[in-house]
Amino acid sequence: MAAGGGGEGVAASLSEERALFDRELEAVGSRAQWEEVRLRWLGKKRGRVRQHLQTLRDLEGEGRKVWGREVNELKRHVEAALARREAAVKALEASASSLAVDVTLPGRRPAVGALHPVSIVTQEIVEIFTAMGYSVAEGPEIEDDYHNFGALNFPPDHPARDTQDTFFIAGGRLLRTHTSPVQIRTMLEREAPPIRIICPGRVYRNDNDLRHSPMFHQVECLVVDKGVTLGHLKGTLEAFVRKLFRPDTGVRLRPSFFPFTEPSAEVDITCPFCSGGGCRTCSETGWMEILGAGMVDPRVLAGCGIDPAVYSGFAFGLGLDRVAMIRFDIPNIRLLFDNDQRLVGQVRG
Ligand code: PHE
Repeated sequence: MAAGGGGEGVAASLSEERALFDRELEAVGSRAQWEEVRLRWLGKKRGRVRQHLQTLRDLEGEGRKVWGREVNELKRHVEAALARREAAVKALEASASSLAVDVTLPGRRPAVGALHPVSIVTQEIVEIFTAMGYSVAEGPEIEDDYHNFGALNFPPDHPARDTQDTFFIAGGRLLRTHTSPVQIRTMLEREAPPIRIICPGRVYRNDNDLRHSPMFHQVECLVVDKGVTLGHLKGTLEAFVRKLFRPDTGVRLRPSFFPFTEPSAEVDITCPFCSGGGCRTCSETGWMEILGAGMVDPRVLAGCGIDPAVYSGFAFGLGLDRVAMIRFDIPNIRLLFDNDQRLVGQVRG
């Protein structure tokens, strides 16, 4: 190797070398290209800077000093420029990959909402009754003693009030324990019968176990007209449960007591799981209790300004949560109120 010159393939002047390196680095567009340039210049064995350093061995004295300084300067320049460029190339690749679209990825399905079991059942019941000419009524969930109890013929301090496990709140108000106060509000609001309403809504009782939740849902039904009889009540119930459950569902009325109906009945349907044959769900009885009903007590009619000598009526109240549990085979009422999307996504009306 000639003194002051480069080895094989190495340019004679270091300023040309520097310019060559700068051009190569300038052209770098990726990490791989950057690595190629680094190896070509700083590679331990065949790097160009290395080769220049090796030529030092053949020099002596002042010439070696001068050449040594130049080679070292080139080395520092190459190292510093590579380091700067590496950071720039990394940043470039990071932003490119964040923008990149992988067209082979499967699409993301949009989450589709589903109705809550109680909403499904509510809608079905509303449809069944509106098709029979009923209208939908609503009332407040915060009620007063008069609408929730007094006007419904619960005597003051009567033990019947205890059966309702009432949540009392400030100002003598309470959370309605049933949808029956909507009967009162409707009769007071309407000019005169005929009245044919259903009222779905939330109700509250201080009760909490596997079968009871402190908030639950009812649908109230009220019919008031001339000549309404218990036969109308039973016929309506049959038509209703045969649409809601199976077309062969049987209905049974058992004597019961509610202060606002006389006579009163607990209503059972033939178990939808075994059609009345007896199974675990109906405790082998073949029947399931689903609602309370009766003929509107004449005192309640009179209290709302409706003459019981002219008009009569029937009413019933149905627990919607229980119906949803039966319809969708949900074993525990709490599942309805846990807000677990898996429950909501599973059931379809
Ligand atoms: N309100 C009663 C209850 O919640 C049910 C009912 C409604 C009974 C209408 C008779 C008539 O238990």
